[in-house]
Amino acid sequence: MHENIEKLQIKFREAIENTGDLSQLENIRIQYLGKKGEITLLMRSMNQVPVDQRPIFGKRVNELKKLAEEMLEHKKSQLHSVHSEKRWEKERLDVTLPGRPFEIGKKHPLTMVLEEIEEIFTCMGFKIAEGPDVELDYYNFEALNMPKEHPARDMQDSFYINPEILLRTHTSPVQIRTMQAQAPELPVRIIAPGKAYRRDDDVTHSPMFHQVEGLVVDKGISLADLKGTLLLFAQEMFGKEREIRLRPSFFPFTEPSAEVDISCIICDGKGCRICGETGWLEILGSGMVHPKVLEISGYNPEEVTGYAFGMGVERIAMLKYGIDDIRLFYINDLRMLRNVK
Ligand code: FA5
Ligand code: MG
Repeated sequence: MHENIEKLQIKFREAIENTGDLSQLENIRIQYLGKKGEITLLMRSMNQVPVDQRPIFGKRVNELKKLAEEMLEHKKSQLHSVHSEKRWEKERLDVTLPGRPFEIGKKHPLTMVLEEIEEIFTCMGFKIAEGPDVELDYYNFEALNMPKEHPARDMQDSFYINPEILLRTHTSPVQIRTMQAQAPELPVRIIAPGKAYRRDDDVTHSPMFHQVEGLVVDKGISLADLKGTLLLFAQEMFGKEREIRLRPSFFPFTEPSAEVDISCIICDGKGCRICGETGWLEILGSGMVHPKVLEISGYNPEEVTGYAFGMGVERIAMLKYGIDDIRLFYINDLRMLRNVK
């Protein structure tokens, strides 16, 4: 009986000494101390031992069990430290290596220009309004005095989703949404920055682009207010020396209408690819809000007047940073993005 215990102890010790990894050690634990482990079974065999020998037998087996547990624990911590040393070897850092240069990101030129436009107008007392990119035909055309079959709809080649819904072709629908929400309260004085979408694609036209809409409605608003505001904007944006010109134009939702040009800073007015050899670059459309538009939006055109404008943000950014192809804003070429100051 005692011999059996002795043999088992020697066998166990050998097993422990010969093991080199933790999962093998766990197998040994199960083999000896698990539910059906050899030491466990030995303890259970107590009832087969003659009564007078039981106390000594019990004591011996208990000692073996305790010893086995201690050896397991000891081996386990030994293997753990070997294991982490090996890992340390593998993950060793050379702290003398020179560091990698840390690149600091910055705002996209369009974001900077948008923020600057917002800053200039909020300083003049304008609030910021927003509308959805996916818009109803009603707001994008109908309420802006462009009923179905109106020829002016062809001025903006649109992306329709279904006959009633499209990607807005300009930010002007925000005019209607803002007035309808606010009427009859005065004054209305908002800008609406956002994206617009058209079937366009060349050096000055992108299928997705940004506009900032402006709208002021109050008693006694005149074309002089529009002109003064836009001149102030142009000078804040491009410096006091920059010239602007108002060119008579047509929009169904304004009457009279004007397009505003800025002298081309790429060729300094001499004529180049960007300004189409004219020396001027169109940056926005504008005009006095059409009486029909005021009416549909809940304002009485006999009592109030208003002006509106819609500027192309990419055009302004091209002028500001001397960029000669609108597509450069959207191809994420880091050389261009880094050069913009
Ligand atoms: C309009 O979109 C009118 N909604 C502007 C307006 C608002 C007039 C309020 C009167 C009152 P237009 O289609 O001309 O107008 O576009 C305005 C500006 O958006 C243009 O001057 C141009 O700078 C810019 N733009 C137009 N299409 C594109 C395009 N595909 N890519 C980049 N910029 C564009
Ligand atoms: Mg135009």
